[in-house]
Amino acid sequence: MRIRIGVLTYRGESGFVEPGFFRRLVQEGREMGIEVFLFSPQDVRFSERRINGFVPEGNKWRRRQFTWPDIVIDRYRYYPLPKHRAYLPFRKQNWFRYANNRFSNKFVVHQILIQDPELQRWLPETLPYDRKTLASMFTDHRQVYLKPTNGSGGRSILRVEKKAGRYLLHGRTKQQAKSCEKLATLREVCERLEHWMKNEKNGNEQFFLQQGLQLSLIPNRTVDARLLVQKDGTGKWCLTGMGIRVGPTQSSTSNLHGGGKALPAISFLIERFGHEEAERIVLECKELAIKTVTRIEEHFGQMMEFGFDLGIDVHGKIWIIEINPKPGREIFKQMREYERYAMAIRRPLEYALYLVNKSNLTD
Ligand SMILES: Nc1ncnc2c1ncn2[C@@H]1O[C@H](COP(=O)(O)OP(=O)(O)OP(=O)(O)O)[C@@H](O)[C@H]1O
Ligand SMILES: [Mg+2]
Repeated sequence: MRIRIGVLTYRGESGFVEPGFFRRLVQEGREMGIEVFLFSPQDVRFSERRINGFVPEGNKWRRRQFTWPDIVIDRYRYYPLPKHRAYLPFRKQNWFRYANNRFSNKFVVHQILIQDPELQRWLPETLPYDRKTLASMFTDHRQVYLKPTNGSGGRSILRVEKKAGRYLLHGRTKQQAKSCEKLATLREVCERLEHWMKNEKNGNEQFFLQQGLQLSLIPNRTVDARLLVQKDGTGKWCLTGMGIRVGPTQSSTSNLHGGGKALPAISFLIERFGHEEAERIVLECKELAIKTVTRIEEHFGQMMEFGFDLGIDVHGKIWIIEINPKPGREIFKQMREYERYAMAIRRPLEYALYLVNKSNLTD
């Protein structure tokens, strides 16, 4: 019998959020002899144990009935918005066997990781927003970032930089509008930040403060690294690939969605730091990623893949900026690493297949 993998995702009036990726996922599945289909919470017919799922057909999506999947990959990117209301209660029910467990928001994840003495050296200072906290962070750091706990694509992030006794604010709103301001006092900064949070928050979302890292490996740019770490067909964690993201000039973020560009990591690091140091950086990134996913799995249970946003500061020190449980793979396409892009799509399917076969053996 063909193994059937369901991919849980959001589907709104304008369709799926990552149609290109999903097409490839179903196609790679077909080549591996696996049936892959997409579905959303509203597509499940519990009484009949069937799902009205979707598969691509030409340029369109075709609706088809599927019997219960052997395993489900959760690819639902949840934000606290009314349209995502159904997801959390649905996901918590565990109607299916999932290849990846549920994860948490950036701030909670930071609080969990910071308890591990082995990981502390890679974690920037991260605290809930408060006027006093902001003031005390400026005694140690020249820059402080204000970020939403559920943000994505660099949206709603504001950077505050202290320069010549004044404060420079740089950020991008939810609608991608750039914001740039100069303020004289910390009190004004606090008022501005509070106004920003009120306008930018989704539902009852919180914001937090983070030590600003010196990421201008290229002058006037925010530069960081993206690592894709995935389980393979034997259940082992692997580094699938790594790229460097360079933000547009004067931008406080490097995200590809915000106009960032991707570069191959090794050649960039060698040019900036020399051979020996570049090698040390790559090895440390790998070590950090494996130690972190191990810690995460102890806390959250089995996971499948992560995209690590890592800061490599101007001194070559490595920092964990963020860990994405439902990462994109577009960076490999941008770097024209098409083989790696294909591998990044296949690995979760191979891992899901491994889980199903393993449980069939023990049944
Ligand atoms: N503390 C920081 N210091 C310097 N730069 C930062 C810091 N935090 C974030 N950035 C820059 O902003 C970018 C976006 O931040 P982050 O990854 O936390 O949120 P996001 O990208 O909006 O979320 P997601 O990756 O889930 O889409 C980072 O990739 C980095 O370039
Ligand atoms: Mg990010």
